[in-house]
Amino acid sequence: MEAVDEAPGAALDEAPGAALEVEGVTVSFGGLLALDEVNLDVDARSVTGLIGPNGAGKTTLFNAICGLQSMRRGSVTLDGKNLSRSAPHVRARRGLARTFQRLEVFGSLSVRDNVRVAAELHNRFSDVTGEADATVEPILERVGIADIADEYVDSLPTGIARLVELARALATEPKVLLLDEPSSGLDPSETSEMGNLLTEISSEGLAVLLVEHDVGLVMSTCQRVYVLEFGRIIACGTSEEIRGNEQVQAAYLGAGRGD
Ligand SMILES: Nc1ncnc2c1ncn2[C@@H]1O[C@H](COP(=O)(O)OP(=O)(O)OP(=O)(O)O)[C@@H](O)[C@H]1O
Ligand SMILES: [Mg+2]
Repeated sequence: MEAVDEAPGAALDEAPGAALEVEGVTVSFGGLLALDEVNLDVDARSVTGLIGPNGAGKTTLFNAICGLQSMRRGSVTLDGKNLSRSAPHVRARRGLARTFQRLEVFGSLSVRDNVRVAAELHNRFSDVTGEADATVEPILERVGIADIADEYVDSLPTGIARLVELARALATEPKVLLLDEPSSGLDPSETSEMGNLLTEISSEGLAVLLVEHDVGLVMSTCQRVYVLEFGRIIACGTSEEIRGNEQVQAAYLGAGRGD
């Protein structure tokens, strides 16, 4: 193989390779091949989109990445470390966090306590000695929910509860954040704020993988977009490239979704 000289002055703080590398991931449910040799990279300091019709396999891919779904084949590498055989909690400790398509929050706890629980667990397992509150308050501010921190989550609209779930994921200080339809239940202005927030947190170093049906949010937020159909990646490119891809339009964008 031909040697390639590294450019002088190449950034020293950037780890080689993507923050999250998914290679050849294959999952089947009985006779159904839900994921077929899926390859995908998620870079630090960017938001990567994953779109595709209902049932394409997006949530299954998240579950495989997190270790909640066993794979028939393939590998999941986080920050250069192969975690394919690691349990979900080990992957979480290594810097993987996610939110769920069906909101997962502690409804009977306050907003602050939801985030505090995550921060305390993270601190305990990471041998962090500081008070969890030192982590919690800046995150509440950051996500824009500090003024309702004492409210019970059950009493809040879905849009706000989604922000609580995002704040809870951030409290684990992840390197890679997987978001499964974070705009579901949000109104247009909340969706636009969500997009701004994702751009901000990714610009600080986080690698974000965004599964979304709101194509506008994906196109305005993501540097790179993957398209999944029937368990296969059928396209990958910039928002512009994806928008102009005829196969994608046929499979998804022009399909006139009802949700
Ligand atoms: N636990 C399971 N057992 C059997 N089949 C499953 C299971 N989970 C998902 N599937 C099937 O795998 C395929 C992919 O489902 P998945 O939920 O990953 O799609 P998705 O892209 O997230 O869809 P949506 O946009 O509706 O959320 C679908 O055909 C689904 O019915
Ligand atoms: Mg899904």
